[in-house]
Amino acid sequence: MKIIGFHWDHHSSVALLEGATITACVAEERFTRIKNESRFPRQAADFCERMAGGRGKIDAVAIATLDKLYDYYLLNVMQSFSIADFIQEQHLFWKPWFYEGRRDLRMRHLFPQYIDRTQYPQKYWSVLGQDEKREETFAADGDQLVADHFGLPVEKVRRYDHHTCHARYALHASNFHDGPVLVLTVDGFGDGANATIYLKDGDELERHYSTPDCTLGRYYRYITLMLGMRPLEHEYKVMGLAPYGRGKQIERVLNILHRTLQVEGTRFVPGPDKPRDSYFPFRDLFEGIRMDYIAAGLQLWVEQLLEQWVGNVAKHFDVSTVVMGGGVAMNVKAMGRLGQMPWMKRFFVAGSSSDESNSMGAALCCAAEQGVKLGKAVPSLYLGSPAEAEADILAKARTDGHVVVRNPSEDQIADALAAGIVIGRCVGRMEFGQRALGNRSILADPTSPEVVPRINAMIKSRDFWMPFAPVILDVFAEEYLLNPNGVDSPHMTIAYHTTDEGFRVLRAACHPADRTARAQILRREQNVSMYSLLEAFLRRTGRAGLLNTSFNLHGYPIVRDTADAYDVFNRTELDALLTADALVLKAACQYRPTSPDLASQGR
Ligand SMILES: [Fe+2]
Repeated sequence: MKIIGFHWDHHSSVALLEGATITACVAEERFTRIKNESRFPRQAADFCERMAGGRGKIDAVAIATLDKLYDYYLLNVMQSFSIADFIQEQHLFWKPWFYEGRRDLRMRHLFPQYIDRTQYPQKYWSVLGQDEKREETFAADGDQLVADHFGLPVEKVRRYDHHTCHARYALHASNFHDGPVLVLTVDGFGDGANATIYLKDGDELERHYSTPDCTLGRYYRYITLMLGMRPLEHEYKVMGLAPYGRGKQIERVLNILHRTLQVEGTRFVPGPDKPRDSYFPFRDLFEGIRMDYIAAGLQLWVEQLLEQWVGNVAKHFDVSTVVMGGGVAMNVKAMGRLGQMPWMKRFFVAGSSSDESNSMGAALCCAAEQGVKLGKAVPSLYLGSPAEAEADILAKARTDGHVVVRNPSEDQIADALAAGIVIGRCVGRMEFGQRALGNRSILADPTSPEVVPRINAMIKSRDFWMPFAPVILDVFAEEYLLNPNGVDSPHMTIAYHTTDEGFRVLRAACHPADRTARAQILRREQNVSMYSLLEAFLRRTGRAGLLNTSFNLHGYPIVRDTADAYDVFNRTELDALLTADALVLKAACQYRPTSPDLASQGR
């Protein structure tokens, strides 16, 4: 059975499930090169259909999420809006909505400049005068549009609940398939809920709790906006800012937040000062408090609240194996804290657990409904298109004045890294999600802190407070990371405190304020060539980790193929590009391979 999973919303994506395994998943933004692409994932769908063997091979399409807000699609709010627009949305839409009871307002009337009637499928969006009706029919219309795209009858298209998709993805990406497992989801909002409790026992996954009262994800989102950053994207920057906030002011923030939302047993309940909306009250309450104190108080509150809730839930169900899903599980610091709780026996957070992975979740829901026995159905996140060897691109590199070294060995690449060269690696199948896991990564020696401003100057332009992250060999995890419960993190979902040795070796890839590292712990079977490169680097330097950051220009999606990678390499100061069959070095880069036979293969 071949099932397509379809997520058409913020960060649209498409997945393919064959038998009991997810074999492909890719976000549309990698094709369109527009960050947060939220339009119909046409090219991602075509990629997955090709992977399935072409037209006529798909048995069913599973769409994630039941509810669809027509105006958000008509305007493509999540990709089109600037930070200023999101603030305007608060003033023009949500304030009258909450404080004046204005239910007549429509986003399309407030922001007509973003109406996009040229988007795919154009025959649907270009028809004028249908907007009023489509508010009611859009969910059903969407099923038909998806069915038409795949050439399937609409009966083959099904829709699945948002949080069940989160839970299915989280569970089947984990290794926990024996004994009872608690699957907990927390996010901003989806299909009427923002937190759920599922218990997996045997083959059954049963929902025991669902609430719309867990507002912590929403508060985090709109405090992110209040701090001048992009909601639903820059929450990680608030988290990165938090360790800089220290002192008594944090208590003030914490006390305000603790009165808005609380945990009672296994439930979230509104606090005595629950705000009427998620933006204006915090803007007033936090007026005059420095941004790092707000970030620190907010982060600490989320960690404390989740710790209390997860602890209560585990005790209530008497289960000490926990899997977390939903957008709030992207908070690597909170997940690190949960993973360290003394009673926790097994803990896992799947990669990119916010809505973009719900394409996989929907396909898994559909398979489970069909009676497919699902274990570890998401074997890895290397689920995208492969980076091919491209002779044309190497010829262009030579024409552009770069030095091309064909088929470099792992030892030679490691030599270059040990010499301080920063390499963009575009090799193998593209990883799914917001974290580069080696195949579309920028790699560097993580020991010297001076590499951080170098990488920022040459390509990344990261905010000055944001840390990089490391990839480390699994066999060194214990030596470098404080991880009492042995929590695994193949997808960079956990921030660990580092040991003295870990901080010494990985310093440029740790948070300088609290010495934590959002490490990718790599096992050989997950990525053999990347593992070999780390081993070669270890042989040269005695250090078993590399700085690993996503291969992209600031504000753009991660590169997809060799052509994208070369374009970024050519337009930036990046020292070197590693492709499927070559190491390309800038002419201005001082480093040259030492092996005479390879150096002679230069230009
Ligand atoms: Fe969600």
